[in-house]
Amino acid sequence: MGLVTLNEILRESVEKNYAVGAFDTLDDNFTEAIVSAAEEEGKPVILMIPNFFWEKNELSFYFNKLLDRCRRASVPVCLHLDHGNSFECCIKAIHGGCSSIMFDGSSLPIEENIAVTKELVMIAHACGVSVEAEIGHVGSPEGELQASEVDKRFYTRPEDAEYFIAQTGVDALAVAVGTVHGLFKGTPKIDIGLLDRIRRVVKIPLVLHGGSGLPESEFRAAIEHGINKVNFFTGISLAATAAIKETLEQNNGLVHYIELLEASHQAVKKVVKEQMCIFGTQPLAD
Ligand code: 13P
Repeated sequence: MGLVTLNEILRESVEKNYAVGAFDTLDDNFTEAIVSAAEEEGKPVILMIPNFFWEKNELSFYFNKLLDRCRRASVPVCLHLDHGNSFECCIKAIHGGCSSIMFDGSSLPIEENIAVTKELVMIAHACGVSVEAEIGHVGSPEGELQASEVDKRFYTRPEDAEYFIAQTGVDALAVAVGTVHGLFKGTPKIDIGLLDRIRRVVKIPLVLHGGSGLPESEFRAAIEHGINKVNFFTGISLAATAAIKETLEQNNGLVHYIELLEASHQAVKKVVKEQMCIFGTQPLAD
């Protein structure tokens, strides 16, 4: 099935009430683990390029590898820019071949967020690319390893979500309803009442950022009440690190690098499969 847009991959998720997992890749090993996990499960997956990766690398070469792997996949794969933090960054992602972009203007005043998002939607749609945006603000930067508290002041207001979508025409909306990026301080709890109020006025797919560390019961409740895409990164990154550490310890540090790659590959794959099961991801109907 290969490369598809976010619109296409989430097409049945609202009606059928499930979520598709979105996992950030760091290198070829992560890409292969994420895509092959989806292939073995026969389920769609969203492969994300994190913005910190973006800023550090010359991507044109790497893009071709990612695109090639997505196109060769036996299941639908969406190649998505995660947290694009500027207009330029989003345009580069469209130019590079992403089938979907996120513009994260969640720290901007709402009218500024609308203005940039609206222009990007116009350009992206003309290129056959989907757009995700965020309203309200999911706290703590992506990749943060210090545990953070949820700040309710930045939760999404349903009236803002409704207004934002009407003004911009985005394809999916990230909402702040109780998660943070990275590790949680305290017990994470999704505000289901708020999610219900958002779902009542928003008909497009809703996105939950900061998935790692959320208990299974909270995921299931969030998805039952309207979440259709779950972003998940720290959990696979830490699973890879733990697998490398364990392999080194088991062999007193005398290990070929390829064995560390294999251990981390298997660890990432395992977590991706587990999360897909929790998200209730279903194959797309033809
Ligand atoms: P976690 O690292 O908390 O899973 O969050 C990932 C994320 O939301 C990426 O956009």
